[in-house]
Amino acid sequence: MTDNIYQPANVALFEAIYGKNLISLGGVAAIDNMFSDIDLNKIKKVVDIGFGLGGVAFYLAEKYLFEISGIEIHPWMAEYATSHAPTKIVHKLQFMVYNQAGEIPLPLTEFDLAYSKGVFNHVQNKEKLLGKIHQLLKPQGLLVIADWIYPEVSIADENGLIHETKSSYEAVLNKAGFQNIEFRNDSEQFSIYVKDLLHNITIRQKYIEDNFGTTIFSTIKNDHQKLLSELQKKQKFAIGITAKNY
Ligand SMILES: C[S@@+](CC[C@H](N)C(=O)[O-])C[C@H]1O[C@@H](n2cnc3c(N)ncnc32)[C@H](O)[C@@H]1O
Repeated sequence: MTDNIYQPANVALFEAIYGKNLISLGGVAAIDNMFSDIDLNKIKKVVDIGFGLGGVAFYLAEKYLFEISGIEIHPWMAEYATSHAPTKIVHKLQFMVYNQAGEIPLPLTEFDLAYSKGVFNHVQNKEKLLGKIHQLLKPQGLLVIADWIYPEVSIADENGLIHETKSSYEAVLNKAGFQNIEFRNDSEQFSIYVKDLLHNITIRQKYIEDNFGTTIFSTIKNDHQKLLSELQKKQKFAIGITAKNY
């Protein structure tokens, strides 16, 4: 699937595939997995990079005490997440768009944590965005990313984005100012999330085909079968990255 899928008309499709207010694999289990090595209880201010429909931020803001500022490139997503935020946590959340050419409209050196789920593989200039995130974090701040890496650097045919390796990703994080970078291989967990997704879309096949077409259903199914095979053959890895600002 390409980036032009991020349209308001596809919200119902995303939710049928990924769950309420989500556009990435694994539901809440994958969100908990992202932070399984980190104590989130003392964190006060957080940035969500690429919040999508807001579901990751909603889940975390309900579970923990911190406030979350979300940044996105699609204006409709800021409106969507703002209007769908659960009433009891809406005061802890703000969702905004930023212009990739300009500055992120958030105060510098105020955030304890920045996180991003399933976003950076869509980002053309990672160093620039990561450099800006580095400036938002406090000196003791932490970055947590769930993303994908590959055994070799290559250009993805369909969209011209770079397939990163561990070392190319590490280099870009270093250039952006991050240190103490750690990679965790989450491919086994993500294989389970993909299998769950394939099971769920099979149950919802009629709904998806009736509402979005048979081609969409088969594309989603084929894409995820391919992803599962790549994970199993170690042609692609799901990774959790943590990097410190110091
Ligand atoms: C796979 S979705 C994940 C959304 C959300 N994090 C989630 O897990 O539900 C990828 C998101 O990245 C956003 N995105 C793409 N490029 C971006 C960029 N340069 N900065 C911020 N967000 C970006 C897209 O608009 C999309 O919402």
